[in-house]
Amino acid sequence: MNQVRIGVIGAGRISHVMAQAHSHVPESKLQGVFDVVRASSEHLASKYDIPHVFDSYEAMLASEEIDAVLVCTPTFLHEQIVIDAANAGKHIFCQKPMALTLEQCERMNEAATRNGVILQVGFMIRFTPPFVEVKERLDSGEIGDIIAIRSAVFGWEPTADWFYDPTQGGGILIDTIIHTFDLYRWYAGEVETIYADGGAYVFEGARKHGTPDNIMCSLKFKNGAMGSIYGSWSSGYGDKTLEIYGTKGSFFIDLMEAQGGRAFIKKNNENPSSAEGWNNLGVLWKFGYQQEARHFTHSILGRVGPSATGSDAVEAQKLAVLADRSMRSSQPLKV
Ligand SMILES: NC(=O)c1ccc[n+]([C@@H]2O[C@H](COP(=O)([O-])OP(=O)(O)OC[C@H]3O[C@@H](n4cnc5c(N)ncnc54)[C@H](O)[C@@H]3O)[C@@H](O)[C@H]2O)c1
Repeated sequence: MNQVRIGVIGAGRISHVMAQAHSHVPESKLQGVFDVVRASSEHLASKYDIPHVFDSYEAMLASEEIDAVLVCTPTFLHEQIVIDAANAGKHIFCQKPMALTLEQCERMNEAATRNGVILQVGFMIRFTPPFVEVKERLDSGEIGDIIAIRSAVFGWEPTADWFYDPTQGGGILIDTIIHTFDLYRWYAGEVETIYADGGAYVFEGARKHGTPDNIMCSLKFKNGAMGSIYGSWSSGYGDKTLEIYGTKGSFFIDLMEAQGGRAFIKKNNENPSSAEGWNNLGVLWKFGYQQEARHFTHSILGRVGPSATGSDAVEAQKLAVLADRSMRSSQPLKV
């Protein structure tokens, strides 16, 4: 196989981002689409030259013309579709959050493992510069041991009521901060304790469903590092900042204003730290989703190992679920 034939399940907002990203990957071929709203399928199909509009996702999974699927439906529908896709022997890219509960995530991960198919979850920040280079430089020991990691995460106001609903979208912790939990694990390893606070400060949807629209979260990692996250759905724009302080230097990423970042490395005691940096306008859109799409396709072709796996998503889910429990009980919790 030198080209992966891909079927898109759910043709809403994120499917267009995914289709656009895969159109830049020569080894990907968008082959089919299914959405319960036929007009949405047809719109995506005509925009991205997708030859087949299926009548059901089951028909897509039964097709020999499909090697892999992109699951882009609302979150509460991910579990069944992913398990059915795994049982049909299709490789799977599942949008984040993988599901709503830890048990669902584990069942999905287990189904992919049992069927020997790739399951990649939509943690595109792992593929976005300068987050990728920060990972490489952290692993090379350039800033020593991590002391603290801090992030402000701004998500757009939800486009539909189901995002607030714990039984459909999960609210901000599970829907949006899951990216940061995954990123923190990737950078600083496993978490030991977590404490979260939050509330429905702005949106009626959050109030109605009893989920927060703004959260603050404190973490302690097993390696002793400290972490904090402020997450908001009400800031009016979507992006993030990240600061990592190490024993020998620090990294700053600002996708809010600078669309770039800076590294300060202590070379030695005589030379004060000089700043060097990255500057990439629109990094997430230009690189993150495309690299993520490329990685998924190339891992199916056996060119790279799996990344942002179902197991990673299970671990991130644990943190989101515990943060929610901590927020509701006002107790720090052990992972
Ligand atoms: N990685 C990211 O940056 C990112 C960004 C946005 C959304 N997401 C995730 O992507 C998923 C979809 O979000 P969205 O914003 O695109 O939602 P959306 O509401 O815009 O699109 C969902 C689509 O799924 C379709 N659908 C509903 N039930 C279906 C079914 N049974 N079978 C097939 N199609 C069905 C709907 O008709 C709709 O077109 C969610 O899990 C969300 O959290 C990820």
